[in-house]
Amino acid sequence: MQSRNSIIEEPEAPWGKDVRLLVVDDEEFIRSIVRERMELEGVSVDEAQNGLQALAMLRDGDYSVLLTDIRMPEMDGVALLREASRLFPGTARIVMTANADLETAVAALKNGAYDYILKPFSFDILFVTIRNAIRKQALERQLQDYQVNLETRVKEQTDLINSLYVRSIQSLIKALEAKDLYTRGHSQRVTLYSMAIATEMGLSPAHIEDLRRASILHDLGKIGVTETILNKPGKLTREEFYEVEKHPEVGTQILSPIPYFQKILPAILHHHERFDGRGYPGRIAGAEIPLESRIMAVADTFDAMTSTRAYRPALPEEVATAEILRCSGTQFDPEIVSVFLFAKDKIEENGDPSWYEWQDGKFPDGEFRPVN
Ligand SMILES: [Fe+2]
Repeated sequence: MQSRNSIIEEPEAPWGKDVRLLVVDDEEFIRSIVRERMELEGVSVDEAQNGLQALAMLRDGDYSVLLTDIRMPEMDGVALLREASRLFPGTARIVMTANADLETAVAALKNGAYDYILKPFSFDILFVTIRNAIRKQALERQLQDYQVNLETRVKEQTDLINSLYVRSIQSLIKALEAKDLYTRGHSQRVTLYSMAIATEMGLSPAHIEDLRRASILHDLGKIGVTETILNKPGKLTREEFYEVEKHPEVGTQILSPIPYFQKILPAILHHHERFDGRGYPGRIAGAEIPLESRIMAVADTFDAMTSTRAYRPALPEEVATAEILRCSGTQFDPEIVSVFLFAKDKIEENGDPSWYEWQDGKFPDGEFRPVN
């Protein structure tokens, strides 16, 4: 096989300061001539007789370059390269081989060698090979740094975009609150109750976060309902009720172009389904209804009953609780009702629930606090 060494041009003084070389060979003669010559070039050199010894030394030292033979007892050069590239990727790896065969070279390169040189070699060749390996390793590191920076930049940009989404939705919710006097605080309290139920149920933090977003935004679609209907003191006509019933779909349509909200769309769409399948818009029943929607249904109804509405004053908490219990299994998931009955006594409302004052595009924490 033609050595690649023949195409390398003029050797040059190769490296900056602080280069540490570990030379690994079972032949003492090879190790000492490399050491002596490289030390003359200002390189700090250590020696190992085989792969195992080299690995132990790599663990203890910060080597810039590993120069290793292939055939050695204990652990050969290929196994050493494989381990070194996995455990010490910051060390440039070069193979010295007396076997000018393609198979050895390929095995070395496949296992993490940056380059190889044929024994016997001139020192000029060795210098150039080491210099190139150091450069290649530095480039690899720069590339890795760039990728890490790129990921950070992408994450920053994504957060910024999400923050802009949240702020635009925030404006819509403020507009809804201005239209519907009874919505103000409702979504916040529904969120409070939903969070308490979810926490009691032991849902994962990610799941709870999705539920939080869905709860805050569940009535967003009411922006599409006229003020006269939203604030009507008397009973709604069938047509008016039909208008109101569209709000889960309208809310979903408003949020659907925004990737940030994709995951919570089903929860919002189905928050008026009933456990017995007689709700809207899908008329789906039981476990077909997303868990978040089943949780929100209980929280939503409880808050609607215990707060003043255009068409009636607030009901006492005991009356509302009895009504929730009465509708367990028909309107509501009975398992969630029993969790709610247990969880609601643990809820404390903390001061002014200005939940829409989101910071940095994030929904605020601490909106509810279990008593114990
Ligand atoms: Fe609703």
